Amino acid sequence: MNENKVLCRVDDVPDGGAVAVDVASSTGGFSVMVLRQGERVYAYHNECPHAGRRLDWSPGKFLIKDGVIICAAHGATFDVPTGACLGGPCRSGLAGVPVSIVDGNVVEP
Ligand code: FES
Repeated sequence: MNENKVLCRVDDVPDGGAVAVDVASSTGGFSVMVLRQGERVYAYHNECPHAGRRLDWSPGKFLIKDGVIICAAHGATFDVPTGACLGGPCRSGLAGVPVSIVDGNVVEP
């Protein structure tokens, strides 16, 4: 049996961009940001470590430039491949969500 949780299709994520996926959980669910750079995908909780706000300025609309995620609230910047804080008011990086690609789907193991 395949127990992987499908977040979205790889093709749903624009190359160099990101989408937001709502994930159900026993605590009411949360939003995950899924990013893509070519054949690679990355995922992080859609929550900024600075003040806990969502990273997107409108649901699913993220500011991403040259491989850097910019928090829409106060401008903290994060590295797409690692989630590390690069600048601005953040003191730590984004909380990662492990994902892989299975049959064209982005899945959470
Ligand atoms: S909540 Fe993201 S920079 Fe303040």
